[in-house]
Amino acid sequence: MRYQMLTTAALAAVALADDSSSASATTTGIPATSTYDIKVGSDNLKFDPETLTASPGDLLNFHFYNGNHSVAQSSYDSPCQAQDNGIFSGFFAGGSGKDEDSKVFSMRLNDTNPMWLYCAAGEHCKAGMGMVINAPSGSDQTLSSYKDKAKSADVKVPSSVYGGVVHDKPQGTTTASASSASATKKSGAAVVAARGSMLGLVGGLVGVVMLL
Ligand SMILES: *[C@@H]1O[C@H](CO)[C@@H](O)[C@H](O)[C@H]1NC(C)=O
Ligand SMILES: *[C@@H]1O[C@H](CO)[C@@H](O)[C@H](O)[C@H]1NC(C)=O
Repeated sequence: MRYQMLTTAALAAVALADDSSSASATTTGIPATSTYDIKVGSDNLKFDPETLTASPGDLLNFHFYNGNHSVAQSSYDSPCQAQDNGIFSGFFAGGSGKDEDSKVFSMRLNDTNPMWLYCAAGEHCKAGMGMVINAPSGSDQTLSSYKDKAKSADVKVPSSVYGGVVHDKPQGTTTASASSASATKKSGAAVVAARGSMLGLVGGLVGVVMLL
């Protein structure tokens, strides 16, 4: 009975954690995905990396350095302008120098459409603080032409956090091992699917699953 309840909870957690791949959810609950770390502002007014090729289901973690930064999404044609249903992390001003802000914005990629991203703080976008995920191949839509257009653009700040979740930066890596690395990935997937107060609940349920 107790086992069944836990299993039901586990399935609920899996359903929340994985809304794109129910086939693999029946066995492990976790689709095969990659995790990418993107540094925002660690190298002056830049994203690092500035271009990234990633697949649906992959997890992108944005880490913020050196003062006030954010990540927001525009179309290619309108750099620095928040687009409808574009991602937005909110602003992070807690990082200084090599120390990153205590918060991370994590976003799960759902498709392979190009995503043009910029920093919505101050005039950062106009100064060239942009990046592209899955740049269109064989197109004249390049990051450098996006940045060129950004120079004369108006910056439009998105209204609210969208398309991902803000969470505390994971502390310490000394216990890293194959199994804890995959555990990190699991909670990462749950974190991205979960919203607001669901976060703690899902984290707890995933914890229970791993104990079984
Ligand atoms: C960060 O930048 C945004 C937009 O420019 C601004 O509204 C906000 O007040 C800034 N935050 C800090 C702490 O400077
Ligand atoms: C991907 O889809 C999930 C579930 O609908 C959503 O929570 C997430 O914000 C989406 N990711 C992006 C980048 O929009």
